[in-house]
Amino acid sequence: MERETLAPRRHLLPTGITGLDTILGGGFREASLNLIAGRPGTGKTTLAHQLMFALTRPGRTALYLTALGEPPAKMLRHQEQYAFFRPEELHRSIHFLNLAAVGGSNDTELMLQKIQEAVEEHKPSLVFIDSFRSLFAALHRGQTGVTGLPAFLHQMALLMRGWQATTFLVAEYLDPDREDPLFTVADGILWLHNQAEGNDGSRKLEVVKLRGQETLPGLHTFRISHEGLRVFAPWVNPLATRIAPVGRADTGIRGLDGMLGGGIRRGTSFLVAGP
Ligand SMILES: Nc1ncnc2c1ncn2[C@@H]1O[C@H](COP(=O)(O)OP(=O)(O)O)[C@@H](O)[C@H]1O
Ligand SMILES: [Mg+2]
Repeated sequence: MERETLAPRRHLLPTGITGLDTILGGGFREASLNLIAGRPGTGKTTLAHQLMFALTRPGRTALYLTALGEPPAKMLRHQEQYAFFRPEELHRSIHFLNLAAVGGSNDTELMLQKIQEAVEEHKPSLVFIDSFRSLFAALHRGQTGVTGLPAFLHQMALLMRGWQATTFLVAEYLDPDREDPLFTVADGILWLHNQAEGNDGSRKLEVVKLRGQETLPGLHTFRISHEGLRVFAPWVNPLATRIAPVGRADTGIRGLDGMLGGGIRRGTSFLVAGP
């Protein structure tokens, strides 16, 4: 989209969350628009809070917009239990805005205006909307102002581009539910799974998309504890790409090197088997 041509190469924001940066290929790009998707209970709100506390610092404030899902007080009661939660940041560098009351009025223009006012007041570098789909659903029911998701997204995208903030939209999706205009607009998509039916019942995270970054593909196991999310990223050997071993290593055993075609191939594993 247009935002790509406007923002060719931004700074990386490492999250510091164990394993996550490895999978992301370093972190999130500044001023990017990211989607945290998954079924209810997969850990989206927890990840959003953990990211917010990890990325917020003096001079980099966050605005967390809640929309008609859980009331913020209830959400905060859950989030307070985590070790990453720093209550002293509330009202200082982290601001919450509940859009439920505005959403009830079914007025898109009013909603966008409220969001814009909050952004102008707090000038956030990070914006979270939880949940984006319930925000849209509430507006859509009213049929006032914009009537479709593409139009609403377009208006939101225009607003967000003006903010130059790194944005995370939290959204509930069923796993097969993989078509949405939002997926085209987003720079990054993280998909959380909770494989309750599987043999290990484990949680998995997938980087479906992250523009301009070399991510680690596939499903990666993560856990939620009182520390928050912890991702078990595969170990990436930092030397592996720098020193590509070539040639063969002499075994020093006369006759064997000849049988092996000059020795053991460097950089490979060699199994010696026998009774
Ligand atoms: N202290 C904890 N230790 C482990 N898991 C937890 C803890 N607290 C909450 N959870 C898990 O986190 C999940 C809720 O995460 P949440 O971020 O609210 O999900 P979502 O926003 O995707 O609906 C629940 O499934 C719950 O099992
Ligand atoms: Mg949630």
